Amino acid sequence: MNVGDERSVSYWMEMAPVIDAPALEQDETCDVVVIGSGIAGLSTAYELSRFGRSVIVIDRGGIGNGMTARTTAHLATELDDFYSELIRVRGEDEARLYYDSQVAAVNRIEAICRDEGIDADFARVDGFLFPAEEDHKKDLEEEYQACRAIGVDVEWAERAPVPGLDTGMALRFPNQGRFHPTKYLAGLARAIEKNGGRLYANTVHVSDKEVDGGVEITTERGPVIRAKVAVFATNSPTNDKVAIHTKQLPDRTYVVAGRVPKGSVPDALVWDTLEAYHYIRIQPLSGTEDLLIVGGEDHRSGEEPEIEKRLTDLEDWTRNRYPSFTRADYRWSGQVLEPIDFMPFSGRNPGSTNIYVHTGDSGQGITNGVAGSLTIAPLILGEDSRWAPVLDPSRKSATSTTSVGEFVRGQAGAVKNLAEHLGGGEISSVDELQPGQGALMRKGLHKIAVYKDEAGVVTQRSAACTHMGCIVHWNGFEKCWDCPCHGSQFAPDGEVLNGPAVKPLAEVEE
Ligand code: FES
Repeated sequence: MNVGDERSVSYWMEMAPVIDAPALEQDETCDVVVIGSGIAGLSTAYELSRFGRSVIVIDRGGIGNGMTARTTAHLATELDDFYSELIRVRGEDEARLYYDSQVAAVNRIEAICRDEGIDADFARVDGFLFPAEEDHKKDLEEEYQACRAIGVDVEWAERAPVPGLDTGMALRFPNQGRFHPTKYLAGLARAIEKNGGRLYANTVHVSDKEVDGGVEITTERGPVIRAKVAVFATNSPTNDKVAIHTKQLPDRTYVVAGRVPKGSVPDALVWDTLEAYHYIRIQPLSGTEDLLIVGGEDHRSGEEPEIEKRLTDLEDWTRNRYPSFTRADYRWSGQVLEPIDFMPFSGRNPGSTNIYVHTGDSGQGITNGVAGSLTIAPLILGEDSRWAPVLDPSRKSATSTTSVGEFVRGQAGAVKNLAEHLGGGEISSVDELQPGQGALMRKGLHKIAVYKDEAGVVTQRSAACTHMGCIVHWNGFEKCWDCPCHGSQFAPDGEVLNGPAVKPLAEVEE
């Protein structure tokens, strides 16, 4: 199981080409084992397979059916946290290199689609950033100056292409892109297999060990993969207890998508300047309609009981600015890991010799995932990687007031969460639960995660996350348990859907 088994189904999941892959049943050896089959994992495996490395990719669920299938697949080179902020924390030289990595990522996707014959609806489109509020105009001016300082391709536009709103002056970023993420992943999977790579679905990494000249990855059903190198690309890293998890925080983000008359919404990427910003694109459909896809309403994972209201707000926001949007045909959510200094972590895992990691994608999972592959693959091949110094997972975190503020709030949330072990429950009896509902209940010294299924059958598990013990919270929209500390997600019965946890919630006596 992985996050593909949560309740909502994205448009990309519904339309995903089937990627057949067996579960691993026997020990295997290879040059590189990649854990995680999203955009970062498959892109890394693809790059290495092209150079003759024998690769194995494993995923705890279906191949290509994890968090990448829950994105909106904006291919943007503009930084969602703004280059003005990045320059403040890392300086112009590093910001320039980061921008360079994003341009390279979009170019690489375009080239792979062409070279491998992948029809993933890739298109170059303009991106527009518009001010959500009057006093955000000065932020736009500051961002324009920052972009100009480091060579970002940007210009002023009279307005952003939002049909129901005069946005006022907006920033226009030419040559961004969009594509269909699950079609792309299916194409990558085919290309990896053509190059001799092996893919294993429903194969769960439970432990890893560096041995002389390599790595051993033990999987849940017993088989061991022996490789020279391992790459972890699992949204939130499953190989790490502390080092990276203290430098990023998990957020849930929401998406609504509805059919609109073809041409009623321009084919462009659009964002606004709210802290939990809105992000908009279309996916062309055959026939007379397009799919309008709008994301936003982010919050810290596991800390929002009113998810339905957030989705309703997102639909209302969309209707008010896109009059051709009438109703949401799709609603889904995903998780993004927000790094403290705005850039992802791609490279050698802190303290490891033969283990690499990619995480911390912020709201740019596709471009950061591909940039990660273009960083990690050369390192494994023994070549220079242009972006390795700036994306190094061991880099010392420089911080701005903004990022520190958010981070202190986030870490304070983790401390508050640990204190929850002592507090009361949300319910005092399972009888208070409706079918299909979960809640926390106190039982003696322990907090219990209780779920009642549609047939009335009750499951009780320890509410202590098996990563580092934070209390999980019920997510009524996705019907899962979310951990606010580092992003683990668990099925109603306690099975792991997303790391860093690798063990299910512990059983308790009922
Ligand atoms: Fe780290 Fe839950 S994800 S404690």
